[in-house]
Amino acid sequence: MAQLEQFAAPGTQWWRSAVIYQIYPRSFADASGDGIGDLAGITGRLDDLKELGVDAIWLSPFMTSPQKDAGYDVADYRDVDPLFGTLADFDAMLEQAHARGIRVIVDLVPNHSSDQHAWFQEALKAAPGSPERARYIFRDGRGENGELPPNNWESVFGGGMWERVTEADGTPGQWYLHIFDPTQPDFDWTNEEVREEFRSILRFWLDRGVDGFRVDVAHGMIKADGLPDYSPGDGADSMGGDQTEVPYWGQDGVHDIYRDWNRVLAEYDGDRALCGEAWLPTLERTALWVRPDEMHQTFNFPYLTTEWDAAALRAVIRDSLDAFGAVGAPSTWVLSNHDVVRHASRLALTAENPQGEGIGPNSPGKPDPVIGLSRGRAATTIMLALPGSAYLYQGEELGLPEAMEIPDEFRQDPTWFRTDGKRYGRDGCRVPIPWQADAPAYGFNDTGASWLPQPEEWAEFARDVEENDPTSTLALYKQLLRERRERQLGLGSLVWHDRGDDTVAFRRGDLHVLANLSDAPIDIDPQARIVIASEPFEGSQLPVDTAIWYTLN
Ligand code: NOJ
Repeated sequence: MAQLEQFAAPGTQWWRSAVIYQIYPRSFADASGDGIGDLAGITGRLDDLKELGVDAIWLSPFMTSPQKDAGYDVADYRDVDPLFGTLADFDAMLEQAHARGIRVIVDLVPNHSSDQHAWFQEALKAAPGSPERARYIFRDGRGENGELPPNNWESVFGGGMWERVTEADGTPGQWYLHIFDPTQPDFDWTNEEVREEFRSILRFWLDRGVDGFRVDVAHGMIKADGLPDYSPGDGADSMGGDQTEVPYWGQDGVHDIYRDWNRVLAEYDGDRALCGEAWLPTLERTALWVRPDEMHQTFNFPYLTTEWDAAALRAVIRDSLDAFGAVGAPSTWVLSNHDVVRHASRLALTAENPQGEGIGPNSPGKPDPVIGLSRGRAATTIMLALPGSAYLYQGEELGLPEAMEIPDEFRQDPTWFRTDGKRYGRDGCRVPIPWQADAPAYGFNDTGASWLPQPEEWAEFARDVEENDPTSTLALYKQLLRERRERQLGLGSLVWHDRGDDTVAFRRGDLHVLANLSDAPIDIDPQARIVIASEPFEGSQLPVDTAIWYTLN
């Protein structure tokens, strides 16, 4: 059965079919040599990205920040943190990217600011009920003397979601809401002043020439009236995966904000795009984010969280194309990012690992690296054949596994601290990536400094090693991206092959895709001419955990 067409003609609405590469600036390339990546480092590596064959880059936050949550705690939305450079460095990077035909999306963090943001500092000094406090969510506590938090909500990073302040006269005072760390107070998006401020921030970056925004926590900005108590159901996920109504995730009111932002983007020429980070329990609810007058993309997290199982994968692909197609939007496929275990490890985990849990020295069910890498390569070979847009996360093109042995004393993720080490958190997917096998910090910089330690076995994943190996993961990604572009696989429809076995098999025009998720080799059509294989293999059978693109002679 053919599934719905993606609608855009080539060259228009680029975001419908684009492959977008996520740069996590602190771990990409470090020109200053201080151990933390920077904007000049990115500029210096744009040729490598051009050669890889991506259409756009998304930069995780580089704005002024005390870095309590690696930049997702913004103190000034209109400036660059000195760690990463200056606004002039940003402009230079943008110009150089555009000169190479690479579009640039920046991360916008509108749910919360840093506690060092000028507005929050003013709110702390101001009185309860003041306009300064009304920009955030301050409430009186419960209990006789307001000593209990206003409700029972639990922070995503562990612990309660409320922090009590000391008033100007020294007495214990009101509480403020923080879905994440206490250093990340939530804005009150029912306040028109907050809305106007963010319209202005959008225009600030659009005026500089950015092609769009990845919108952080796009499902959290509106809280249910009255802030009712909520207890997560069985199997609920901290980022929003609960089947029941969650009073701070996916509230209807958020959609007005994106309709408003859609109009702001429309003031500008070219196709500027909004991509929502919205963890929602179903594809139908996820698709609400990309109705025609709202955002342009939203990450397909139900796809990312699907385990390595043929029936489950076929179902999520089919249901995604239906759900997004029903609102006229492309699906935005993604397998890895800076918040989840890298997919070259995750797909071989043998124990449950909820989002944000991470893997550390004592984790159960650690993945086998060989199985993980095979599955990771096969998964990407499936993903890049699908119609719609796709996001890649820096390092996955090298087949990087999760860094699983980071010693406790180096950990930085607030999740680790807020849970007293019960959850390792996300540091394992954020380690600076290797460029050269025989250089300090594997060529991340020339001093050898690195804000998280790089595993010793990463020399074999270094870009300069993989560049000279036609069987490397880097070679595979380049091939996949080239064929995808030439065949315009990001657009058009998909026809399933119903084989009734543990494969994922479909056709895109005259290109066939076959992935073997069973536990035994399977026969390949004798007429098949293989265009790309996720692993080299001999003979007429497709090995386990391998995917191919082929045509028929
Ligand atoms: C989602 C981001 O991707 C994550 O890294 C961050 O910690 C939270 N939002 C809070 O901003």
